[in-house]
Amino acid sequence: MRILGIETSCDETGAAVVEDGKKIISNSLASSQEIHIVSGGIIPEQAAREQIKSIIPVVNEAIKRADNNFDAIAVTYGPGLIGSLLVGVETAKTLSLVWEKPLIPVNHLVAHLYANWLGDKNPQFPAIGLVVSGGHTDLVEMKSYSQIKWIGGTRDDAAGEAFDKCARLLGLPYPGGPAISKSAENYRNKKLDLLPRPMINDNNLDFSFSGLKTAVLTEVRKEDYKVDQMAAEIQAAIIDVLVAKSLKSIELYKPKSFLLAGGVSANNALKEKLEEAIVKKHSKVQFFCPDPKLSTDNAVMIAAAAYFDKRLIDPIKLNADPQIEIA
Ligand code: KG4
Ligand code: ZN
Repeated sequence: MRILGIETSCDETGAAVVEDGKKIISNSLASSQEIHIVSGGIIPEQAAREQIKSIIPVVNEAIKRADNNFDAIAVTYGPGLIGSLLVGVETAKTLSLVWEKPLIPVNHLVAHLYANWLGDKNPQFPAIGLVVSGGHTDLVEMKSYSQIKWIGGTRDDAAGEAFDKCARLLGLPYPGGPAISKSAENYRNKKLDLLPRPMINDNNLDFSFSGLKTAVLTEVRKEDYKVDQMAAEIQAAIIDVLVAKSLKSIELYKPKSFLLAGGVSANNALKEKLEEAIVKKHSKVQFFCPDPKLSTDNAVMIAAAAYFDKRLIDPIKLNADPQIEIA
């Protein structure tokens, strides 16, 4: 079965055709990131305006490369920016009606997890998923494709948000995650313990990242800091907490697989540290992380998620939901 996925939750406009949730037939993506680099962050109105211009060309390219051969349409209906979501949702509803193809609404956060099923990967249930994106940091337990339970998450800022806000304090460009990670590479193999690791020893699966930017601000105000070193400190603090709580979740829920997902999963240091820790402490748990190109927002994961959890909806009844939670 081939599904056309459409994703417009943030500043990207993506369309992709995926076969049986595994094989990428086509993948087309337009991003207004260059505009946001100039403004130092996303201006929602501007993102949506760009998406209105690119949605039809992007969908056209994706279906053309798939020889117009697909059986259903899947679309992100939330969470995300309302103006951006509406562009994808209204387009998908219209195309579903006009082309008489079934419509499958997809939760963007859940879709990040399904980037781990692409290709020849086959995570086993029960699985734990850690979704780390620009707006969310959630730990979930997956007992099956459709059974997802929230088991922990951030009480304030998301991990990606912490990267983005701290990068701004260092004068690094948007998006902050890749910028911090690149800068941190120039400061390797040194002791990194300058910043706090909020909630790391608390006996729960919760996170708190908002204090980190205050701690970074205090350091930045001293004015004798080095950007590369601060970048490495920030990355290390975020990673340490994510690794500690991931290990705790494995101890509590005893999964067969652990799935890292979301934009921050493109971070190589995180991937390496987490995998190393899981292999060392829980060698029976299989670790999965998407290909970096499929870690950040894309339409491939939307089409994959729709294949594994097909919840058809009458197009007339679908509404965008910017606030929807992962479970
Ligand atoms: O999932 P995503 O593409 O969009 C949302 O759903 O939010 O995640 C975007 C987030 C941003 O905060 C960005 O800074 C972060 O992912 N990110 C990274 C890296 N690449 C993207 N964070 C750390 N290291 C990276 N290499
Ligand atoms: Zn995302």
